[in-house]
Formats: sequence, C-alpha cells, structure tokens
Amino acid sequence: MANAFGKIILAGEHAVVYGYPAIAQTINKEVSVRASQSFGKKATFHFLQPALSSGGEIFDQVLARLTVLLGDRVQKLSFDIESNVPGGCGLGSSAALSVALIRSVLDFYEETRTSGEVAAMAMDLEKIFHGNPSGVDHTTIAHEGLIWFQKGKLEPVLSAKPLKFEILMGSPHRGTLKAVQSVRDFYEAEPMRVRSIFEEIEALTYAMRKAIKIGDLKQVGLLMNQNHALLKSLGVSTPELDALCEQARQKGALGAKLTGAGGGGCVIALV
Ligand code: MEV
Repeated sequence: MANAFGKIILAGEHAVVYGYPAIAQTINKEVSVRASQSFGKKATFHFLQPALSSGGEIFDQVLARLTVLLGDRVQKLSFDIESNVPGGCGLGSSAALSVALIRSVLDFYEETRTSGEVAAMAMDLEKIFHGNPSGVDHTTIAHEGLIWFQKGKLEPVLSAKPLKFEILMGSPHRGTLKAVQSVRDFYEAEPMRVRSIFEEIEALTYAMRKAIKIGDLKQVGLLMNQNHALLKSLGVSTPELDALCEQARQKGALGAKLTGAGGGGCVIALV
C-alpha cells in the first residue's frame, strides 16, 4: 500500500505560479493506493469513495501518462484508491493522488526513486488535473514536512515551535484551473496592480519564514491574516471564506487565511 499526504499552503499561493515563493506543509490526511496484478486486458482504477471517480475520462489520460513515465507494465495493474483528503478544497487531493499512484507502481515492482524523481513524475500527472501548476502542491507532498518552494526548488523550513492548524471546511471550490485563470485575467488587465499584490505577498512570505524559524507564532498569525487580505484583493476569496477566517480569529486563532486556490474550499487557522 502506498500513500501520500494532503497539504496546506501557509503563504504565497497564486503568487507562486509567477515565480514568487510559498510556504507549504503536509497534513495528516492521506490518499492510499494499492496496485495489484490486473486480470483484465487494461489497467483499472477502483475508487473506494465514489466522489473521487468523477471525470472518468481523466483517468484514461492519467493511465496514458503513467505508462509513459513508468512503462507498459503499468497497463497490467489494477489500482484500489482510498482517500480522506477532501477533494476540491485546496488540500492537495489531486497532487496526493498523483504521488500515491506513482508510489504504488514503484511499491508493486519493489523499486525506489528519490523524492525529487517522484515529484518530477507527479508534475506530469498534476498537469492533467490542473493545466500548468507551479509545482508547490506535489513537491511538498512528495518531500513531506514544512517546505519553502520557489521556481521548482525546495528547502525545508525549520520551525522553532510546533505549528498547529485547524482546518475549517467551506463549500467546494470551482477548481484550481479556474481560480488560477481568474488571477491571470486580472494580471493581464492590471499588471502593475497585481504585481504589487504579489510583491506584498512575497515580502510577507519571507517574514513568515523568519517568524517560523524563531518561533514567533503571533507574528505568523498576523502574516496569515495579511495574506488572506491580499488573496481577497486578488479576487480569490469568497464571503464564506472571509466569514470562516473571522470566526476563527474571534475564537482565539492567532491568524487565519484561505489555503490553496480559493474561490471556495477551506480556511486554515493557526491555533
Ligand atoms: C494551489 O494549491 C496553489 C496555487 O498557487 C496553484 C499552483 O501553485 O499551481 C493556487
């Protein structure tokens, strides 16, 4: 059985697509995939949660890509997929599925690859789900832990104190592709304005790394609040996500923000 954790983004989503840095972390929710010998003519995918199987034809593309990446032998496998990472919520369910599928094939054939090699293969699968992702989701998921990510490169972030987040679920989002496209449209219409929002996000992402390193959780929370406000000005928040952030802060969270693509999905609160 191979698995891969979901992820949250602490700072820098959307800006990361344009080469700015982001901080992300894996969470204790996971996708599990068991690969076994298939007795049919073609590989099959069995979803233990029907919600995962939506868009069956996408899995024809996934299979074709897996075959290119790992060889024709993939066609002889059957995949049992189980997940407790909610889909469409910004928690990296498709990236976790991509990484877990690759790991399941390697597991079945008793092969090993570095996390970097797994991440590079997962990028090809993620492109099927998300068009042209920055790579932050599957890179974090393939390497695990608290990660600084910029332009395809990662560095682990050392934290002086444990960071504990609560995840507040809102309604599912409209898809990462749509949210990324809406920011692109805004960027093309008003490049100066959007660039200056990205630069503010970049500055707070650097400040957050420093605050995490010295264990200044109050500052991490304030920076999360700022990041949420900037994501709101990019147009990717919703009244529901704003309300969830407010609710978390009123209940004593040190900070709260939407995480991932936005346009729905969930909020993370530093507790
Ligand atoms: C999605 O989890 C993060 C985004 O920045 C998209 C990406 O980086 O590919 C919104």
